[in-house]
Amino acid sequence: ALLASVNAFAQEYPVANKTITFVLPYAAGGPTDKAARDLAQAMSKAMGGHSIVIDNSAGASGSIGANKVAKASADGYTLLFTHIAQATLPTFFRNLPYNVEKDFEYIGLVSENPMNLIGRPSLPANTMGELVTWIQANKGKINIANAGPGSASHLCGMLFQSTLKVDMTSVPYKGTAPAMTDLIGGQVDLMCDQTTTTIPQIEGKKVKSFAVTTPTRLTAVALKDSPTMQEAGLKDFSVTIWQGLYAPKGTPAAVLKKLNDALKVSVKDPEFIRKQEGGGATVIMDARNDPAGHKAFIVSELAKWAPVIRAGGIYAD
Ligand code: MLT
Repeated sequence: ALLASVNAFAQEYPVANKTITFVLPYAAGGPTDKAARDLAQAMSKAMGGHSIVIDNSAGASGSIGANKVAKASADGYTLLFTHIAQATLPTFFRNLPYNVEKDFEYIGLVSENPMNLIGRPSLPANTMGELVTWIQANKGKINIANAGPGSASHLCGMLFQSTLKVDMTSVPYKGTAPAMTDLIGGQVDLMCDQTTTTIPQIEGKKVKSFAVTTPTRLTAVALKDSPTMQEAGLKDFSVTIWQGLYAPKGTPAAVLKKLNDALKVSVKDPEFIRKQEGGGATVIMDARNDPAGHKAFIVSELAKWAPVIRAGGIYAD
Protein backbone atom coordinates (compact mmCIF):
# COMPACT_ATOMS: atom_id res chain seq x y z
CA ALA A 1 0.00 0.00 0.00
CA LEU A 2 2.87 2.32 0.81
CA LEU A 3 4.49 1.66 -2.55
CA ALA A 4 1.19 2.22 -4.36
CA SER A 5 0.69 5.58 -2.68
CA VAL A 6 4.30 6.61 -3.37
CA ASN A 7 3.78 5.75 -7.04
CA ALA A 8 0.50 7.66 -7.19
CA PHE A 9 2.22 10.66 -5.63
CA ALA A 10 5.01 10.58 -8.19
CA GLN A 11 2.60 10.26 -11.10
CA GLU A 12 0.80 13.35 -9.91
CA TYR A 13 3.98 15.36 -9.45
CA PRO A 14 3.95 18.23 -10.05
CA VAL A 15 0.31 18.87 -9.13
CA ALA A 16 -1.09 21.49 -11.52
CA ASN A 17 -1.72 24.30 -9.05
CA LYS A 18 1.28 23.66 -6.76
CA THR A 19 4.19 25.98 -7.39
CA ILE A 20 7.75 24.65 -7.23
CA THR A 21 10.09 26.94 -5.29
CA PHE A 22 13.82 27.27 -5.85
CA VAL A 23 15.26 28.57 -2.59
CA LEU A 24 18.11 30.85 -3.51
CA PRO A 25 20.49 31.57 -0.62
CA TYR A 26 21.79 34.93 -1.95
CA ALA A 27 20.31 38.35 -2.75
CA ALA A 28 18.19 39.03 -5.83
CA GLY A 29 20.07 40.43 -8.81
CA GLY A 30 23.32 38.54 -8.12
CA PRO A 31 24.90 35.80 -10.25
CA THR A 32 23.32 32.87 -8.39
CA ASP A 33 19.91 34.52 -8.63
CA LYS A 34 20.42 35.11 -12.33
CA ALA A 35 21.42 31.49 -12.99
CA ALA A 36 18.50 30.21 -10.89
CA ARG A 37 15.99 32.34 -12.79
CA ASP A 38 17.36 31.17 -16.14
CA LEU A 39 17.12 27.53 -15.01
CA ALA A 40 13.64 28.05 -13.52
CA GLN A 41 12.45 29.40 -16.86
CA ALA A 42 13.95 26.49 -18.82
CA MET A 43 12.71 23.83 -16.38
CA SER A 44 9.26 25.35 -16.30
CA LYS A 45 9.17 25.06 -20.09
CA ALA A 46 10.42 21.46 -19.87
CA MET A 47 7.66 20.69 -17.34
CA GLY A 48 4.82 21.90 -19.55
CA GLY A 49 4.77 25.45 -18.23
CA HIS A 50 4.58 24.46 -14.56
CA SER A 51 5.16 27.46 -12.29
CA ILE A 52 8.61 27.71 -10.66
CA VAL A 53 9.34 30.68 -8.39
CA ILE A 54 12.48 31.94 -6.67
CA ASP A 55 12.62 32.51 -2.90
CA ASN A 56 15.64 34.66 -1.99
CA SER A 57 16.44 33.41 1.52
CA ALA A 58 19.76 35.19 1.82
CA GLY A 59 22.19 35.49 4.73
CA ALA A 60 24.96 33.75 6.70
CA SER A 61 26.99 33.05 3.54
CA GLY A 62 24.13 31.13 1.94
CA SER A 63 23.66 28.71 4.85
CA ILE A 64 20.22 30.08 5.84
CA GLY A 65 18.66 29.13 2.50
CA ALA A 66 20.43 25.77 2.35
CA ASN A 67 19.25 24.95 5.87
CA LYS A 68 15.70 25.91 4.95
CA VAL A 69 15.71 23.29 2.18
CA ALA A 70 17.50 20.69 4.32
CA LYS A 71 14.56 20.96 6.76
CA ALA A 72 11.73 21.36 4.16
CA SER A 73 9.20 18.64 3.26
CA ALA A 74 10.69 16.16 0.84
CA ASP A 75 7.87 16.54 -1.68
CA GLY A 76 9.68 18.08 -4.66
CA TYR A 77 8.13 21.54 -4.19
CA THR A 78 10.98 23.14 -2.22
CA LEU A 79 14.39 22.85 -3.87
CA LEU A 80 17.77 24.50 -3.32
CA PHE A 81 19.66 26.20 -6.12
CA THR A 82 23.19 27.03 -5.05
CA HIS A 83 26.83 27.03 -6.06
CA ILE A 84 30.28 26.08 -4.72
CA ALA A 85 29.08 27.01 -1.21
CA GLN A 86 27.84 23.41 -0.91
CA ALA A 87 31.51 22.36 -0.88
CA THR A 88 33.02 25.26 1.09
CA LEU A 89 30.55 26.10 3.89
CA PRO A 90 31.06 22.74 5.69
CA THR A 91 34.70 23.75 6.25
CA PHE A 92 34.12 27.45 6.86
CA PHE A 93 31.37 26.85 9.45
CA ARG A 94 32.25 24.47 12.25
CA ASN A 95 28.60 24.35 13.36
CA LEU A 96 26.70 24.30 10.09
CA PRO A 97 23.09 23.32 11.01
CA TYR A 98 22.83 20.81 8.14
CA ASN A 99 24.96 18.11 6.54
CA VAL A 100 25.72 18.64 2.86
CA GLU A 101 26.28 14.94 2.18
CA LYS A 102 23.39 13.52 4.24
CA ASP A 103 20.56 16.07 4.15
CA PHE A 104 20.10 16.52 0.39
CA GLU A 105 19.18 14.63 -2.73
CA TYR A 106 21.39 15.71 -5.62
CA ILE A 107 19.49 16.55 -8.82
CA GLY A 108 22.28 17.79 -11.09
CA LEU A 109 24.75 20.57 -11.86
CA VAL A 110 23.96 22.99 -14.67
CA SER A 111 26.70 25.56 -15.24
CA GLU A 112 30.25 26.64 -14.57
CA ASN A 113 31.02 30.29 -14.02
CA PRO A 114 34.35 32.09 -14.18
CA MET A 115 35.05 34.94 -11.80
CA ASN A 116 36.37 38.44 -12.31
CA LEU A 117 38.33 40.80 -10.06
CA ILE A 118 36.68 44.20 -10.32
CA GLY A 119 37.22 47.57 -8.63
CA ARG A 120 35.38 50.79 -7.86
CA PRO A 121 35.33 53.22 -10.79
CA SER A 122 37.35 55.83 -8.86
CA LEU A 123 40.32 53.50 -8.20
CA PRO A 124 43.55 55.15 -9.40
CA ALA A 125 44.70 51.87 -11.02
CA ASN A 126 43.57 50.81 -14.50
CA THR A 127 45.58 47.66 -15.16
CA MET A 128 46.39 44.63 -13.05
CA GLY A 129 50.01 45.80 -12.71
CA GLU A 130 48.89 49.22 -11.49
CA LEU A 131 46.44 47.57 -9.13
CA VAL A 132 49.11 45.41 -7.50
CA THR A 133 51.33 48.51 -7.05
CA TRP A 134 48.38 50.41 -5.53
CA ILE A 135 47.58 47.50 -3.20
CA GLN A 136 51.20 47.28 -1.98
CA ALA A 137 51.24 51.04 -1.37
CA ASN A 138 47.93 51.02 0.52
CA LYS A 139 48.32 47.92 2.71
CA GLY A 140 45.93 47.92 5.66
CA LYS A 141 43.57 50.41 4.04
CA ILE A 142 41.87 48.30 1.39
CA ASN A 143 38.33 46.92 1.59
CA ILE A 144 37.14 43.89 -0.35
CA ALA A 145 33.44 43.07 -0.61
CA ASN A 146 31.95 39.56 -0.58
CA ALA A 147 28.86 37.53 0.24
CA GLY A 148 30.20 36.22 3.57
CA PRO A 149 32.76 33.57 4.59
CA GLY A 150 32.71 30.56 2.28
CA SER A 151 30.82 32.36 -0.49
CA ALA A 152 32.29 32.32 -3.98
CA SER A 153 33.28 35.99 -3.81
CA HIS A 154 34.96 35.43 -0.45
CA LEU A 155 36.86 32.35 -1.60
CA CYS A 156 38.16 34.16 -4.68
CA GLY A 157 39.08 37.29 -2.71
CA MET A 158 40.80 35.19 -0.05
CA LEU A 159 42.90 33.41 -2.66
CA PHE A 160 43.81 36.77 -4.16
CA GLN A 161 44.99 38.11 -0.78
CA SER A 162 46.90 34.96 0.16
CA THR A 163 48.61 34.84 -3.25
CA LEU A 164 49.65 38.50 -2.93
CA LYS A 165 50.39 38.05 0.81
CA VAL A 166 48.28 41.10 1.63
CA ASP A 167 45.42 41.36 4.16
CA MET A 168 42.39 43.39 3.20
CA THR A 169 39.29 44.25 5.26
CA SER A 170 36.49 41.90 4.28
CA VAL A 171 33.07 43.55 3.96
CA PRO A 172 30.29 40.91 3.91
CA TYR A 173 26.88 41.36 2.24
CA LYS A 174 23.87 39.05 1.71
CA GLY A 175 24.97 38.52 -1.86
CA THR A 176 27.17 40.21 -4.40
CA ALA A 177 24.28 42.29 -5.82
CA PRO A 178 24.17 44.68 -2.81
CA ALA A 179 27.99 44.56 -2.70
CA MET A 180 28.06 45.60 -6.37
CA THR A 181 25.90 48.65 -5.54
CA ASP A 182 28.44 49.75 -2.91
CA LEU A 183 31.38 49.04 -5.22
CA ILE A 184 29.82 51.20 -7.92
CA GLY A 185 29.22 53.86 -5.27
CA GLY A 186 32.84 53.70 -4.12
CA GLN A 187 32.09 52.52 -0.56
CA VAL A 188 34.31 49.45 -1.10
CA ASP A 189 37.44 49.08 -3.24
CA LEU A 190 37.43 45.60 -4.75
CA MET A 191 35.31 42.51 -5.30
CA CYS A 192 35.65 39.18 -7.01
CA ASP A 193 32.33 38.22 -8.62
CA GLN A 194 31.03 35.94 -11.34
CA THR A 195 31.23 37.24 -14.89
CA THR A 196 27.48 36.82 -15.47
CA THR A 197 26.93 39.92 -13.32
CA THR A 198 30.22 41.79 -13.83
CA ILE A 199 29.96 41.95 -17.65
CA PRO A 200 26.98 44.36 -17.75
CA GLN A 201 28.64 46.65 -15.17
CA ILE A 202 31.94 46.69 -17.09
CA GLU A 203 30.06 47.42 -20.32
CA GLY A 204 28.27 50.28 -18.54
CA LYS A 205 31.66 51.57 -17.25
CA LYS A 206 30.31 51.33 -13.70
CA VAL A 207 33.26 49.22 -12.45
CA LYS A 208 36.83 48.47 -13.56
CA SER A 209 37.82 44.95 -14.57
CA PHE A 210 41.32 43.84 -13.57
CA ALA A 211 41.62 40.09 -14.16
CA VAL A 212 39.68 36.90 -14.77
CA THR A 213 40.15 33.72 -12.72
CA THR A 214 40.20 31.20 -15.58
CA PRO A 215 43.43 29.64 -16.92
CA THR A 216 42.81 31.29 -20.32
CA ARG A 217 41.27 34.65 -21.25
CA LEU A 218 37.52 34.90 -21.81
CA THR A 219 36.02 35.87 -25.16
CA ALA A 220 33.27 38.23 -23.91
CA VAL A 221 33.94 41.67 -25.43
CA ALA A 222 33.88 43.36 -22.01
CA LEU A 223 36.57 40.97 -20.73
CA LYS A 224 38.84 40.32 -23.68
CA ASP A 225 41.40 42.85 -22.42
CA SER A 226 41.34 41.45 -18.86
CA PRO A 227 44.36 39.20 -18.24
CA THR A 228 44.11 35.92 -16.39
CA MET A 229 45.38 35.98 -12.80
CA GLN A 230 48.15 33.67 -13.97
CA GLU A 231 49.23 36.05 -16.76
CA ALA A 232 49.29 38.77 -14.11
CA GLY A 233 51.83 36.72 -12.18
CA LEU A 234 49.54 35.08 -9.62
CA LYS A 235 50.82 31.54 -9.96
CA ASP A 236 48.27 28.67 -10.07
CA PHE A 237 45.39 31.07 -9.43
CA SER A 238 42.24 29.48 -10.81
CA VAL A 239 38.65 29.63 -9.54
CA THR A 240 35.52 28.37 -11.27
CA ILE A 241 32.09 28.34 -9.68
CA TRP A 242 29.50 25.69 -10.48
CA GLN A 243 25.76 25.81 -9.87
CA GLY A 244 23.29 23.02 -9.20
CA LEU A 245 19.94 21.89 -7.87
CA TYR A 246 19.17 19.94 -4.68
CA ALA A 247 16.09 18.51 -2.96
CA PRO A 248 15.57 17.59 0.70
CA LYS A 249 16.75 14.08 1.61
CA GLY A 250 13.98 11.51 1.21
CA THR A 251 12.32 13.08 -1.83
CA PRO A 252 10.72 10.15 -3.72
CA ALA A 253 12.91 8.70 -6.49
CA ALA A 254 10.20 9.17 -9.12
CA VAL A 255 9.91 12.88 -8.25
CA LEU A 256 13.69 13.25 -8.45
CA LYS A 257 13.63 11.53 -11.84
CA LYS A 258 11.08 14.05 -13.15
CA LEU A 259 13.20 16.94 -11.90
CA ASN A 260 16.38 15.45 -13.33
CA ASP A 261 14.67 14.82 -16.69
CA ALA A 262 13.59 18.49 -16.80
CA LEU A 263 17.11 19.63 -15.80
CA LYS A 264 18.63 17.58 -18.61
CA VAL A 265 16.22 19.06 -21.15
CA SER A 266 17.09 22.53 -19.80
CA VAL A 267 20.86 22.23 -20.26
CA LYS A 268 20.21 21.58 -23.94
CA ASP A 269 17.73 24.44 -24.26
CA PRO A 270 19.26 26.96 -26.73
CA GLU A 271 17.82 29.91 -24.80
CA PHE A 272 19.36 28.69 -21.52
CA ILE A 273 22.69 28.06 -23.25
CA ARG A 274 22.66 31.49 -24.92
CA LYS A 275 22.04 33.25 -21.61
CA GLN A 276 24.83 31.39 -19.78
CA GLU A 277 27.37 31.80 -22.59
CA GLY A 278 26.48 35.49 -22.93
CA GLY A 279 27.61 35.88 -19.32
CA GLY A 280 30.89 34.05 -19.86
CA ALA A 281 29.58 30.83 -18.25
CA THR A 282 29.62 27.30 -19.67
CA VAL A 283 26.66 24.94 -19.53
CA ILE A 284 27.60 21.60 -17.97
CA MET A 285 26.72 18.62 -20.16
CA ASP A 286 28.37 15.60 -18.60
CA ALA A 287 27.93 13.03 -15.83
CA ARG A 288 27.42 15.86 -13.34
CA ASN A 289 23.94 16.45 -14.81
CA ASP A 290 22.99 13.21 -13.03
CA PRO A 291 22.52 12.74 -9.26
CA ALA A 292 25.42 10.27 -8.87
CA GLY A 293 27.88 12.37 -10.88
CA HIS A 294 26.74 15.53 -9.12
CA LYS A 295 27.23 14.02 -5.67
CA ALA A 296 30.61 12.49 -6.53
CA PHE A 297 31.77 15.89 -7.75
CA ILE A 298 30.63 17.65 -4.55
CA VAL A 299 32.42 15.05 -2.42
CA SER A 300 35.62 15.63 -4.43
CA GLU A 301 35.24 19.43 -4.17
CA LEU A 302 34.71 19.18 -0.38
CA ALA A 303 38.00 17.32 -0.16
CA LYS A 304 39.72 19.78 -2.51
CA TRP A 305 38.70 22.97 -0.70
CA ALA A 306 38.91 21.84 2.94
CA PRO A 307 42.74 22.01 3.17
CA VAL A 308 42.84 25.30 1.21
CA ILE A 309 40.33 26.87 3.60
CA ARG A 310 42.00 25.43 6.72
CA ALA A 311 45.38 26.70 5.53
CA GLY A 312 43.78 30.15 5.37
CA GLY A 313 42.78 29.68 9.03
CA ILE A 314 39.44 31.41 8.50
CA TYR A 315 36.28 30.19 10.18
CA ALA A 316 32.90 31.82 10.28
CA ASP A 317 32.09 30.46 13.73
C1 MLT B 1 25.61 35.86 -5.23
O1 MLT B 1 24.81 35.30 -6.00
O2 MLT B 1 25.29 36.85 -4.57
C2 MLT B 1 27.00 35.36 -5.15
O3 MLT B 1 27.18 34.22 -5.96
C3 MLT B 1 27.34 35.05 -3.75
C4 MLT B 1 28.77 34.60 -3.65
O4 MLT B 1 29.67 35.36 -3.92
O5 MLT B 1 28.99 33.44 -3.30
